[in-house]
Amino acid sequence: MAKGLDIGTMNIICSEREEEDVVFTQQRNAFMELESSDLTKTMLDSAKVLYIEKDARIYVLGEDAFKFATIFGKGTRRPMRYGIISPKEKDAIPMIKLIVERVLGEPAHRNEVLCISSPADTIDLDMNALYHKKMMESLARRMAYETHVIDEGLGVIYSELSDYNFTGLGISMGAGLTNVTLAYLATPVMSFSIGRGGDWIDEQVSITTGLPKDHVCATKEKGFKLGLEVEYGSADGALSIYYDALMTYIIKNLNRKLAEITPPKVEFPVALAGGSARPDGFLKMFERKLREAKLQIDISSIKLAKEPLYSVARGCLIAARTHEGEEKGEGETEESAG
Ligand SMILES: Nc1ncnc2c1ncn2[C@@H]1O[C@H](COP(=O)(O)OP(=O)(O)OP(=O)(O)O)[C@@H](O)[C@H]1O
Ligand SMILES: [Mg+2]
Repeated sequence: MAKGLDIGTMNIICSEREEEDVVFTQQRNAFMELESSDLTKTMLDSAKVLYIEKDARIYVLGEDAFKFATIFGKGTRRPMRYGIISPKEKDAIPMIKLIVERVLGEPAHRNEVLCISSPADTIDLDMNALYHKKMMESLARRMAYETHVIDEGLGVIYSELSDYNFTGLGISMGAGLTNVTLAYLATPVMSFSIGRGGDWIDEQVSITTGLPKDHVCATKEKGFKLGLEVEYGSADGALSIYYDALMTYIIKNLNRKLAEITPPKVEFPVALAGGSARPDGFLKMFERKLREAKLQIDISSIKLAKEPLYSVARGCLIAARTHEGEEKGEGETEESAG
């Protein structure tokens, strides 16, 4: 057995095989703090809510933090920002640890192979992903998983571009970041991230329309369609404008980064994934802009992942199974040699 784990700014998702199927377990990467009382605990227990008690405080975690935030009239806190542990959130690491433990569960056996995703360094923010990557790796190792880490964009390539021998451009448009990887035969040629994703869109739309950010995010996630004629002043109109701006920004930076490398002279397919790639019309709009941009590489097909939210987690599972296969292979060689 092997597992994949996508630790994202908004969602933490585990993937594993159950017979022929891949199953996903997910939680929101968020928590909410409450004062501890017997009454609150009884209520949370009867509702089977995921929470812990620490220093006379109660911390409600994951999906439930969102549900209960409205009931208690409180905001949620998020352990990550821009794809990495938030330096502004003092409880970030213990909270991520608890959510990861819940989503991942115990390894089936000691040293079960696990592959986790990590963002690539960001080109437009003053931060790097090393600390985050090392912390997540050590957290999983302490749970007795044999842990490997891959770039988030490579996760998309593993998941979506197997028919192309894992050659292509993988783009994951998440909440905090957009991750981009160009790979040739499963080997990254270029990886970077951009400090803009769904959160940026929500913030910009909220600033320009005066609508609360949560309301904007809810409108965006509930059947909003990109590129249609929209009413002036509506959230839909502003969402389309900022989606357009974000795509332009991603493609401009992609072309700038491509100019710094000498990519192999082949045609590259493109795979788009991440929760922010889900709206209707996303693929059409992105494809038009990418074709117009005259990139420094030749693009063949452009596809949208079938399940954009699960693509990175699925890619991590494929990478983990590959490692597992290699190790078994090595074991067999040793045995047969001995
Ligand atoms: N149907 C939808 N339409 C538009 N956006 C959506 C939809 N569903 C989810 N999103 C957005 O997708 C983002 C979450 O996607 P995802 O889970 O891929 O991000 P993440 O991996 O947690 O973040 P990151 O990769 O940036 O660390 C959020 O901004 C969310 O609002
Ligand atoms: Mg992500």
